Amino acid sequence: MRISVIGSGYVGLVTAVCFAELGHEVTLYDNDPAKQHALQQGLSPIHERYVPELLKRHLGGKLKLSNSLADSVGQSVAIFVAVGTPPTVNGEADLSYVESVAREIAANIKDYKIVVGKSTVPVYTSEWVRRVMLLNGAPADLFDVASNPEFLREGTAVTDFLYPDRIVIGTDNLRCTETLQQIYRPLTDGSYYQRGDAIPAPKPMTGAVRLIATTAKSAELIKYASNAFLAMKISFINAVATLCESVGADVDQVKEGIGSDSRIGRQFLNPGLGYGGSCFPKDLSAYRAVARECGYDFRLLEEVMHINNEQRERFLRKVRHALWTLKGKRLGVLGLAFKGGTDDVRESPAVAVVKSLIDEGCRIQAYDPAAVTNAREILGSQNIEYVASALDAAKDADALLVLTDWEEFRTLDLVELHKRLHYPIVIDGRNMFNPDAMAERGFIYTSVGRPDVPHEIPGATNGSPRQKPNFRTPASPTVKVP
Ligand code: UDX
Ligand code: UDX
Repeated sequence: MRISVIGSGYVGLVTAVCFAELGHEVTLYDNDPAKQHALQQGLSPIHERYVPELLKRHLGGKLKLSNSLADSVGQSVAIFVAVGTPPTVNGEADLSYVESVAREIAANIKDYKIVVGKSTVPVYTSEWVRRVMLLNGAPADLFDVASNPEFLREGTAVTDFLYPDRIVIGTDNLRCTETLQQIYRPLTDGSYYQRGDAIPAPKPMTGAVRLIATTAKSAELIKYASNAFLAMKISFINAVATLCESVGADVDQVKEGIGSDSRIGRQFLNPGLGYGGSCFPKDLSAYRAVARECGYDFRLLEEVMHINNEQRERFLRKVRHALWTLKGKRLGVLGLAFKGGTDDVRESPAVAVVKSLIDEGCRIQAYDPAAVTNAREILGSQNIEYVASALDAAKDADALLVLTDWEEFRTLDLVELHKRLHYPIVIDGRNMFNPDAMAERGFIYTSVGRPDVPHEIPGATNGSPRQKPNFRTPASPTVKVP
C-alpha cells in the first residue's frame, strides 16, 4: 500500500521505517530541513534501536523522503500525521501543526485519502480535522479521517511497533477500517514474524497481534487514558515508596508483593525520580484540560502530577540531607536523559534536578551515554562539565547521584567507583544498585523507598556534618521476605 507519513520525529520516523519494513511504499515528509538533510545521508536524527538498520534496509527502496507535502499526499492512499502536539501555556495540546497539515492535505487532495492521526490528540480532533479539510475545499467523498494512536516507548519504539500488545484503529466507516486492517495485516496474520529477516521479537510471541477497531473518539480516548493510567501507576508506587521510607519498609519487597497480583502486574511499578519525557507530562495536562472542557473535573490526574513533581523535591532534600550545605559541592551525575536507552531530554527529571543543583551553587560532573548533546542545549556549560564515563563523573566528587536508569550503570565497577569518590556517598534516584552490595563495599547509600545503608555512618564522630553526613535511620530493622 502507498503510505505517507508527515513528521519525522520519534513517532513519525519509527512509523515510516516500520511500515516500509512491513512491505509498504512509504513517503516521509518533514518541514524541518535539518532532519531531512540528516535522513538523506542515511543518518537517524534520534537515538533509537533498530532505526539505523531499518533506514539502511529501506531508504531509497520502500522508503522515500520527500520535501513536498503536496507530492507525498498525492502519492498515497493513507496519510499518517505524526507532527508534534506540544503543550500550550494552559496545559492543553497545541493542535496548530495538526491543523496546518490538514489544511495542506485539503488543498492537494485529488483522489480518495484516509487521513490518520498518529499524534496524541484530544478527543474530537478527528472531527476537527474533518471540518478543517471541508472548510478548505476537500470534497467530503474524497477523504476519511481516522485515529491510530501509537504506543511506542522511546528506546524500544521499533519492537513496540512490530510486536505490539494491540493495535487500535478508530474509524467511522467500514472502508476506512478495511484499509487500515490491510496496512497492519503482516502483523495481525503473523506473516511478518515468519520472515527470516524480521527484527527479533523482544519477548516470545503468545499469539496473533490483536487489532481493536473502535470509533475515532474511542481511539483518541484510549491513547490518553493509557498514558494517564501508566503515569498513575508510577505515582502510586512513588507514594508507596515515600510511606516505606517513613516506616522503614522496603519498596522492592512491597512491589514484589503487589506486582505478583496478576490484576496489578509488575510493570511500571518502579519508584524513582518520577516520569518525564515528551508524552506523559504533556498528555496528563492535556487530558485534564480536555476533561474539564467536557464538564468533568478529573482531580485524580492532578494528584498524579503533584506526586510526580514532589519526587524531584524529595530527591533534592535527600541530597541536602546527605551533604548538609550544597554551595561549592562537586557532584557526580549519572544520567541526563528522561529514561535509559534514549538521547531525549524533554521533560527529563534528571535535567530538572541538575538545574536546581546548579542554581544552589553545586558544580556538576555529568555523564550520559547518549543525551549530552541535547542536555547541553538546556543546561549550558556553566558549572557543569560533561565527562566521558561514569567513573569520570565520580572523580573527586562529594557525592554521586544516579538520575537515569541506563542499564550500563548496573554493572559499574563499584570498587573503582569507591576509589574515585571524595566521599563514598551515592544517592540513587532510580534504585539501580543493591543496598546490601553497596553497604558491603563501604558506600553510604540512599535510594528511593528502601532503607539507607549503612544505618549508622561507620566511625562517625560528633565532628562537622561534612565529616558525618546526616543520614536518616530507619525506624525498624529490615525484614527479609523468606
Ligand atoms: C509527536 C507528539 O509530540 C506526540 O504527542 C505524538 O504522539 C506524536 O508526535 P514526536 O514524534 O516525539 O511526538 O514529536 P517531534 O519530535 O516534535 O516530531 C514532530 C515532527 O513533525 C518534527 O520533526 C517536525 O519537524 C515535524 N513537523 C512539525 C512537520 O513536519 N510539520 C509541521 O507542521 C510541524
Ligand atoms: C510513553 C508510553 O509508555 C508510550 O506507550 C507512549 O505512547 C509514549 O509515552 P515513553 O515516554 O517513551 O513512552 O517512556 P516510558 O517507558 O513510558 O517512560 C516514561 C517515564 O516514566 C520515564 O521518565 C520513565 O523513567 C518513567 N518510569 C517508567 C518510571 O518512573 N517508573 C516506571 O516503572 C516506568
